[in-house]
Amino acid sequence: MQNRKPLDIKQLNLQPFTTMGPQGVLLVSGSDTQNANPMTISWGTFGIMWNKPVVMVMVRHTRYTWEYISKMPDFTLNWLDKSMSKALALCGRVSGRDMDKFTASGLHTESAAVVGSPIIAESILNLECRIIYHDMVKPDQFKDISLSNHYAANDYHGLFYGEVVAAAGIEKFILSQ
Ligand SMILES: Cc1cc2nc3c(=O)[nH]c(=O)nc-3n(C[C@H](O)[C@H](O)[C@H](O)COP(=O)(O)O)c2cc1C
Repeated sequence: MQNRKPLDIKQLNLQPFTTMGPQGVLLVSGSDTQNANPMTISWGTFGIMWNKPVVMVMVRHTRYTWEYISKMPDFTLNWLDKSMSKALALCGRVSGRDMDKFTASGLHTESAAVVGSPIIAESILNLECRIIYHDMVKPDQFKDISLSNHYAANDYHGLFYGEVVAAAGIEKFILSQ
């Protein structure tokens, strides 16, 4: 649908501190195009770990997405054009437990190039991530007590570290050589 081209992760042109927030991007985890759930996220990091290009995303264990990402080997991250902000807002407000968010938002799934979790057909950039490490936020490790303000309901995040195994985006996300 979008004019995306496969890109080498070293050519990825994005600002790590503003690219996901505050508007969010879509995290999708599932087995295939028919069995997946989209959720808006804006917390995460990008960088090199274990010599691999890694994206880390934070998912509270209370999310429906948890039912997928805690069992699946991978996830995708999908950036949408500003004109689709309503779809992004819906996927950050409504739970897949209560509604098929693809039908409700008008978004469509498409098979990813490498991983089983689908990508969003309408995305202008997507990263395919293979989960290589998982941990939970542990309150006894907080060195800044203000972090506990985010967990009044003890709904601690799971941290999912995904190796970026494929990426595709429109021109503006590709650094010229
Ligand atoms: C802009 C925005 C960013 C969000 N970021 C996160 C996040 O990083 N982690 C998280 O667990 N929830 C985050 N949420 C909340 C979930 O998107 C929201 O609870 C969603 O309805 C969960 O969907 P699900 O139950 O279908 O998984 C965010 C919501 C918005 C609107």
